[in-house]
Amino acid sequence: MPTHHLLLLPGDGIGPEVMAEVKKLIAWMNAHGMGTFETEEGLVGGSCYDAHKVAITEETMARAHVADAVLFGAVGGPKWDNVPYDVRPEAGLLRLRKDLGLFANIRPAICYPALADSSSLKREVVDGLDIIILRELTGGVYFGEPKTITDLGNGQKRAIDTQVYDTYEIERISRVAFELARARKKLNKVTSMEKRNVMKTGVLWHEVVSQVHAREFEDVTLEHQLADAGGMQLVRWPKQFDVIVTDNLFGDMLSDVAAMLTGSLGMLPSASLGEVDAKTKKRKSLYEPVHGSAPDIAGKGAANPIAMIASFGMALRYSLNRGKEADMIDQAIAATLAQGLRTADIKSEGCKLVGTKEMGDAIIAEMAKLAAT
Ligand code: IPM
Ligand code: MN
Repeated sequence: MPTHHLLLLPGDGIGPEVMAEVKKLIAWMNAHGMGTFETEEGLVGGSCYDAHKVAITEETMARAHVADAVLFGAVGGPKWDNVPYDVRPEAGLLRLRKDLGLFANIRPAICYPALADSSSLKREVVDGLDIIILRELTGGVYFGEPKTITDLGNGQKRAIDTQVYDTYEIERISRVAFELARARKKLNKVTSMEKRNVMKTGVLWHEVVSQVHAREFEDVTLEHQLADAGGMQLVRWPKQFDVIVTDNLFGDMLSDVAAMLTGSLGMLPSASLGEVDAKTKKRKSLYEPVHGSAPDIAGKGAANPIAMIASFGMALRYSLNRGKEADMIDQAIAATLAQGLRTADIKSEGCKLVGTKEMGDAIIAEMAKLAAT
């Protein structure tokens, strides 16, 4: 069994607290013959800015390039609201995504039965929901040039962001979408979302996704929705979806919406994957919870570690070829919730309120039970 080299980047706010629970779980797995994991840690975001005046150092970038997977906590907070734009905390995350070529961001939205009542939607709308938002992550308006604010000299300024997509970027993300839909064996369906009624990038997106479908994936159903209508459908009847594929900005927004369907942002993991290397068959990858740094509850031991732990589960599945252990983690999370343990974000009547550490311990205890059977 190979040794898995992981780079842990806890970041800011609740990042270090939720990452601590993953470290505990990794130590437990190492001690119980469930793999050999070696971990290194680095700074990213505001904590890196405080130490080095940049959002991520060259040395940490170099380590990210050679790791089997990067586990990322969260970045940002009011403390760094006024740092220069190019070294703001988020710049560290964006650089990791861009430099590692992590174009495919898989954001599953799964509603555990035990949590269906924490959602703001009716139980029947969300109970058993299991969909994926596949977000393009290295293109579009996040990275397009020009990206500027210019002083027009007449008391006015002009801000420009550029939404840009090339054919190859749309092709490769569509392929990931169709392959995911195929492999999931659920509705075997991809819904592509764009705004072709307003945006040229939407026109090209629609055209290229359709071509890839016709050429390579006719066995998968393809649907198109305008992104605004898609947002509406996502809260009206989310179970109509299987895999939603969309661009960087729409994906950012729609995945937050999808997250809330499941009860709490604190529940959702994500995987960001690069191209498969033809020689090594490996792909660069980074795993992070969809939630942010939650500065309002940071340091209180109240954060929900489930999204971070489930992100490690996704690393086991997508990068480390340890699907069995990934399944165990998912089952341990479901069992812990079924017992009635809840962090504050998913609290409901008759359930036991616990902190970050207790939730982490309970999940490990469930892992131990599963390992014994
Ligand atoms: C996310 C976050 C990031 C994004 C921020 C922190 C830059 O909101 O991963 O969804 O906008 O992509
Ligand atoms: Mn976001």
